[in-house]
Amino acid sequence: MLIAIGSDHAGADLKRELAAFLKDKGINLIDVGPDGSASSVDYPDYGEKVSLLVSGGQADRGVLICGTGIGMSIVANKFQGIRAALCSEPLSARLSRQHNDSNILVLGGRMIGSVMAREVLGVWLDTEFEGGRHAGRLMKITTIEEKTSQDEPRQP
Ligand code: RB5
Repeated sequence: MLIAIGSDHAGADLKRELAAFLKDKGINLIDVGPDGSASSVDYPDYGEKVSLLVSGGQADRGVLICGTGIGMSIVANKFQGIRAALCSEPLSARLSRQHNDSNILVLGGRMIGSVMAREVLGVWLDTEFEGGRHAGRLMKITTIEEKTSQDEPRQP
């Protein structure tokens, strides 16, 4: 499995820890940066890099970290084919894989401790999509995505 990982300055320390965790597991990584937390950077820039790699098939899955995880979630879910899940505990991480086939895990670097983050990431990596009734729901998301990418802004 090839994982793309990125953060902003608020997630850079946790990114470094999780990159080491993934390497220990023998997982190949593309680290899009930033290189450390010293300079303030903008989360949309790094969210876009990881989302494009996953959306374009150059990475199997992605991990994004900002302070709360909220900004990265908003960014990642703008991209075609991305199902980004902000998780703070293992049950959500497991269900985001089983039911939603989440392909980007988002973590809040200022919200979660590193032990919990590793646990969440480990569960997320090891859990497969269940398919079945959930596959039809994902197809509906794809249909919405196709419609909204072509349409002018609509009323609900
Ligand atoms: C950076 O200060 C912070 O706004 C960012 O990391 C993130 O939490 C945004 O959603």
